[in-house]
Amino acid sequence: MKSASAVTRLFVCTAQKDEIGKDVAKALKIELKKQGLKKLLTGGEKLKVRVQTCNCLDLCKHCKKGPGAALLMHPEGTVYGDVKPKDAADIVREHLGEGRVVKRLQVD
Ligand code: FES
Repeated sequence: MKSASAVTRLFVCTAQKDEIGKDVAKALKIELKKQGLKKLLTGGEKLKVRVQTCNCLDLCKHCKKGPGAALLMHPEGTVYGDVKPKDAADIVREHLGEGRVVKRLQVD
């Protein structure tokens, strides 16, 4: 049986009034496919990446009170805020593809 850590989940909040999070989640899925990163090999371990929408992540300052959506990388724990659909490509390429946190979008 596979361990739970074999899946990286991107939880995207969709609790904004305009539900921009839905568009962010859609853009992330498209980028994962485009960049061929739905399945990753990191440190010899195979990882699957899934994008899921969710309710409030308690990061509202960088979500419904701002211009974009908040999202959480699970299980690793990085949190991004004010994410817009156009940021999806950078999150997928830099974070998932290159293993680097996208500093300009990271929030505490
Ligand atoms: S409304 Fe999105 S984090 Fe609270």
